[in-house]
Amino acid sequence: MREAKVRTITALGLGLGLWLGSSGIGTAGATLNVLCGVDESWCGVMAAAFRANSGTDVVMTRKSSGEILDQVRAERQHPTVDVWWGGTGDAHLQAGSEGLLQPYRSNNERDLLPWAQNFLALSGGRSAGIYAGALGFAYNAELLARYEVPAPTCWKDLTSSAYRGRIQTGNPNSSGTAFTMLAALVQLFGEDEAFRFMGDLDRNVTEYTKSGSAPVKAAARGETLIGISFMHDAVTQKQAGSPLVIVAPCEGTGYEIGAVSILKGARNLETARRFVDFALSPEGQATGVVAGQYQVPSNAKAALPAAAPDISMIKMVDYDFATFGSPEERSRLLRRFDTEILATN
Ligand code: G6P
Repeated sequence: MREAKVRTITALGLGLGLWLGSSGIGTAGATLNVLCGVDESWCGVMAAAFRANSGTDVVMTRKSSGEILDQVRAERQHPTVDVWWGGTGDAHLQAGSEGLLQPYRSNNERDLLPWAQNFLALSGGRSAGIYAGALGFAYNAELLARYEVPAPTCWKDLTSSAYRGRIQTGNPNSSGTAFTMLAALVQLFGEDEAFRFMGDLDRNVTEYTKSGSAPVKAAARGETLIGISFMHDAVTQKQAGSPLVIVAPCEGTGYEIGAVSILKGARNLETARRFVDFALSPEGQATGVVAGQYQVPSNAKAALPAAAPDISMIKMVDYDFATFGSPEERSRLLRRFDTEILATN
């Protein structure tokens, strides 16, 4: 069943392919409230690591990027949250341009890779890149053999009637992953062609999930043949033993820069700053692999997880974060998606 509407974003030319790092030490204090945009397992590992590093207790709440943006907007006058950690950077950029974030320049910025430096500059110092990851899809090899259908290698293959009722993807209103897909397709094919593609794809989609990793998790469990998600989310499932085959689409694809931001009006500002320092440090970024997450870290001194997809080998659009991270463009594309794709279901 398809999920109801919600909302989300994205932005460019940040030149993926390199590295950067630092550390952070906090002091014991009041509980830090963090909205967590990464996988639930990483939220827990990160909370424990920061607690050990700083002596501060952390409450993490996992939500999808668009849901977090909605909460942060709704709480504009009375923020209950200090830090937004993880999730696609486009949504962070949007919050920044709406005046919802508190700029912070961490000493660890100097160790960030060039693409993260560019993202930081684009955000006006309000959000820092913590990881990058490429979008793709994955299919369940056992189901593929059972259904006797060809293996998809391109975005356009996914519209084949062979996959009718056999694909899950995210809802771009709630999921930053799915908004990244929408924005990437617009950049790859041109807007009208991208929407024609989404319309054709819709015939094969059984569910638009709230979160962006749900589709590949469903494919891993054999509940759907194909899931469209970030490739590193599929790696996590594969590492856990599922029969997934991960595909970097032949036409090219988009990517995310996951981000961390401090909310304007944060009640624990000093601790929030220490959290950002930690999130940008090699130690903080090493928590990802402990939690079975395989994004590319933004700190040049952080270790690249051995299982991380090699993004330098993937055909990638020159992703325009400035355009697709703007509130106007995101709202416009989501309206069009809701009208032309979701409303027809
Ligand atoms: C997963 C990925 C992250 C990504 C996030 C976006 O957790 O591992 O790299 O930032 O999804 O979540 P969303 O639910 O907004 O698509």
